[in-house]
Amino acid sequence: MCGIVAYIGKREAYPILIKGLQRLEYRGYDSAGVAMLNAKGDLNVYKRKGKVTDLIEFAKDEDKSGNIGIGHTRWATHGEPNDVNSHPHYSQSKNIVMIHNGIIENYASIKEGLKKRGHTFLSQTDTEVLVHLIEQIKEHEGMKLGHAVIAALNQVIGAYSIVVMDKNDPDTLIAAKKGSPMVIGIGADDFFIASDASPIIEYTKNVVYLEDEQVAIIRRGKELKIRNLKDKEVTHYVQELTLELESIEKGGYDHFMLKEIYEQPKSVRDSMRGRLNTTSGLITVGGIVDHEKKFEKAKRIIFVACGTSWHAGLVGEYLFEELARIPVEVEYASEFRYRNPIIYQDDIVIAISQSGETADTLAAIELAKSKGATVLGVCNVVGSSIARATHGGSYTHAGPEIGVASTKAFTAQVTVLTLMALHIAKVRGTLTESRYHQLLYEMETIPSKIEEVLKLNDQIKEIAYAHKDTNNALYLGRGVSFPVALEGALKLKEISYIHAEGYPAAEMKHGPIALIDEAMPVFVIATKGANYEKVVSNIQEVKARKGKIIAVVTAGDKEVKEMADISIEIPETDELLVPLISVIPWQLLSYHSAVMRGCNVDQPRNLAKSVTVE
Ligand code: G6P
Repeated sequence: MCGIVAYIGKREAYPILIKGLQRLEYRGYDSAGVAMLNAKGDLNVYKRKGKVTDLIEFAKDEDKSGNIGIGHTRWATHGEPNDVNSHPHYSQSKNIVMIHNGIIENYASIKEGLKKRGHTFLSQTDTEVLVHLIEQIKEHEGMKLGHAVIAALNQVIGAYSIVVMDKNDPDTLIAAKKGSPMVIGIGADDFFIASDASPIIEYTKNVVYLEDEQVAIIRRGKELKIRNLKDKEVTHYVQELTLELESIEKGGYDHFMLKEIYEQPKSVRDSMRGRLNTTSGLITVGGIVDHEKKFEKAKRIIFVACGTSWHAGLVGEYLFEELARIPVEVEYASEFRYRNPIIYQDDIVIAISQSGETADTLAAIELAKSKGATVLGVCNVVGSSIARATHGGSYTHAGPEIGVASTKAFTAQVTVLTLMALHIAKVRGTLTESRYHQLLYEMETIPSKIEEVLKLNDQIKEIAYAHKDTNNALYLGRGVSFPVALEGALKLKEISYIHAEGYPAAEMKHGPIALIDEAMPVFVIATKGANYEKVVSNIQEVKARKGKIIAVVTAGDKEVKEMADISIEIPETDELLVPLISVIPWQLLSYHSAVMRGCNVDQPRNLAKSVTVE
């Protein structure tokens, strides 16, 4: 949560900061601010409630010169989103400024101590407390800025990535990280610091990922130095970025979300690339090879995840139980970590995360590791904290996902989980050869089937138009389509602000059926498979109460088509693989509904893409 960006070098800092903040806006966008130190030694801070565009407008006639600066886009934790609580924050003397991503848990007690020493605070934020503490230590102990930051961080409990700039030291930036991500780009004669590589990529491919409890001393024209919280210098490794600039731009689409929906034939193909080989009949999922023995004997798999990734985990539950015959539990990471869960050493915990930075998922991983379980990751962002914290795992290779509502990350996660389940089923001998090969061949057809579903865009747009003014919606599905119902409902509520609930179709009669009337659209997945007749009965129950049925059906279906008010025909595939294509209509539906309702599709209110606070 929150995006941070900073620059020191020979170029004008402001345009770099603004462009960087716009790239990072997916991380939070309730206020934005910058601080620049100009050649005369003036420290100028401009910050504003609202989006980066509001900041640009606010600062348009101001002095924004300077070759060193820091910028921030906020997702509020402490203190409501307003101008005062926006970052950067000043120290007591206003000589030091700081930007922060994370939460300082013991800020209240530190604040009390500082108040007793005469400090006064302008905002309600934990960040302002930390920058005051840094200055207090620097002045009181006569320390240089870097050492003062280290001393202050030794006193704080919580998560942070921070960048600190001092008016009296115009050639230095100090950056530090614990829990929240931080990347330092090394240019020819300058440095770029950011929450992820997207603001850096167009300037340099050489980056250093800061580790937890490391402090970077970044000096103009000097080599990067990194120290730990014991104030000892540590070696760092420069990595080369593989990210391409085009992949983080809209490429002609109106919104990132639409671009990402349309990228799914490619992203699913990329998730399978080099892993699925129908000729040899082999599946190679690198990240689990070293753990095959564990899977062979595993008595239980636990998926931990949040949001859409949790829905992918639910699909994974059906796949692993059905194919590999291993019992699976799917846990919200936020509940798991605080529940004193029973974890055995032979458990395999699989953390699923697009960003690889979700704080609750990271904490669940640490808990599982402390109990001796094998912990694997299914992450999209290469080099992310979760990818590094796990014993092994597989990347989804979906490419950067920028729209806050997750789309291609979900299908990529389900793809990787399917390949894993198939591979483990083969290792455990729980699947016949013919069924195994049948699924392998079917997997290979999925990208072209997604292409077919995307051709239904105009029909789905019409459905969105017809329902854009509804206040409520119900999504139903059974078996492996139940998580897709949850995902459809989540998509609709998060970007178009229509209240929606996902339910297992048969559970409807235990509650939600009371809500059904002629005004209530019911979105159902009724594709061919073992549950088909059961879903048909559930549809009849809705129709008997005058509910309106919009059904996703298998191409050529007759029975549901006759009953439903609207049918969306998708290509036939194996029942277990249906989620990979049946989720697409729900993604498009929520996208068009949100656009028609005038919502900000890529940056829905109150949400953030990467939730690095618990
Ligand atoms: C946020 C995002 C969701 C995402 C969830 C989990 O809520 O808005 O799109 O599904 O976090 O994030 P992760 O990066 O761990 O998959």
